[in-house]
Amino acid sequence: MAVSTVTELMTFRYNRGLVSKMLNFIMNKLQHRRVLLGVTGGIAAYKAVEILRQCQRLGAQVRIVMTPAATEFITPLTFQALSGSSVHTQLLDAEEEAGMGHINLARWADVILVAPASADFIARLACGMANDLLTTLLLATEKPVMLAPAMNRAMFDDLHTQQNIQKLKSQGVVILGPGEGVQACDEVGLGRMLEPEELVQAVTEHFQTGELAGLNVLLNAGPTREAIDPVRYISNHSSGKMGFALAQACAEAGAQVTLVAGPAQLQTPSGVERIDVVSASEMSEAVMEKAKEADIFIASAAVVDYTPVEVAEKKIKKNASEMQLKLIKTNDILTNVATQDDTTFCVGFAAETDNLEQNARAKLERKSLDMIAANWVGQSRGGFNSDYNALSVYWKDGGQEIDSMPKPELARKLIALIAKRYHEKNTT
Ligand code: PMT
Repeated sequence: MAVSTVTELMTFRYNRGLVSKMLNFIMNKLQHRRVLLGVTGGIAAYKAVEILRQCQRLGAQVRIVMTPAATEFITPLTFQALSGSSVHTQLLDAEEEAGMGHINLARWADVILVAPASADFIARLACGMANDLLTTLLLATEKPVMLAPAMNRAMFDDLHTQQNIQKLKSQGVVILGPGEGVQACDEVGLGRMLEPEELVQAVTEHFQTGELAGLNVLLNAGPTREAIDPVRYISNHSSGKMGFALAQACAEAGAQVTLVAGPAQLQTPSGVERIDVVSASEMSEAVMEKAKEADIFIASAAVVDYTPVEVAEKKIKKNASEMQLKLIKTNDILTNVATQDDTTFCVGFAAETDNLEQNARAKLERKSLDMIAANWVGQSRGGFNSDYNALSVYWKDGGQEIDSMPKPELARKLIALIAKRYHEKNTT
């Protein structure tokens, strides 16, 4: 094998490793994010398929809106088959307007990416025209808009296009690229659409809020297990989903995140340092060790409140018809963190089956907390081991309700609220 071929092979393998590391790093960063992908008429329209797939791989929900010209380059059926939902092409379609019309689509999206964005589309958008579904919903949206121009280099250089782009930029539209290189028309210059990975990266970065940049956040999550003997333990129904979603939201907000996790079968969010523990005493030790450096502590773990005084060395025989276990209270980790150093902003959770506000506010005061997030638990209520949850968040002189939604979304809302209150406390 020629040396160059070996080198190429090694480079390919190395790059594949690097690409997969990069993908892992941003994995799940778009979870539950709603991306509206607009496709306009240009030869790069076929690359929008790869954008759709990458966004989906990262956990995003994607809806496609195509201009009539885009359908000349690639069929709506291709996007429909891959996205699993219908592709929107028509502005004046009675059925569509009855289902998800342009206003609903504009509201639905968290971010709108138009890729490729042709010169004609950019011109129409800059003029405020609403002569197809995509331009109309862009007029109607208040969400962030990103455009990936793709056109011949002379068209891109043209004064009209440049003025249109400047106008859109001044309105807050984010222009991604274009890149430089050989074009479909065989000319060389600026005008190539950025590659799908670069565009997906830009969308991902958009969600990195930076609200907690430079801060150390410590969280605990999941249940603890208190051993009775070598085969039995006391625990609860916590899955860790709430706490892991919070850890991910903190990382997205730019924090340095440490997650002390009880037994949970969940993937570690990217960029998060995870410390696995089993029992309440192990969790207490790990949290107290890390708490010294924490600016914020979020206690979402369902720490078991009582643990057996003694752990039997051998499996307890089941000869007797009754047995008694002597239990002792576990350390209250949250109270210990909140009282050891009042510079750490402490957020507790309250899992309640009755008197939610009253019980949660009592815990807020008793445990010397800055905030508490209360949730209902028990039969047929979100909370434990569900993908959804709702929270009632309280602090000394206020509170806020966060309605039921998927835990990753809920976590982002709670983190935004925590960040706001943390900064208020530390700037006054
Ligand atoms: O993990 P999931 O399946 O996603 O479910 C999420 C959840 C329901 C577990 C979560 O939203 C939640 O409510 N966590 C707190 C559960 C709990 O133990 O609540 P509590 O009201 O018993 O405790 C109040 C606070 O004290 C909590 O912040 C708890 O972490 C803390 N505590 C309790 C006991 C103890 N020994 N040490 C503590 O730090």
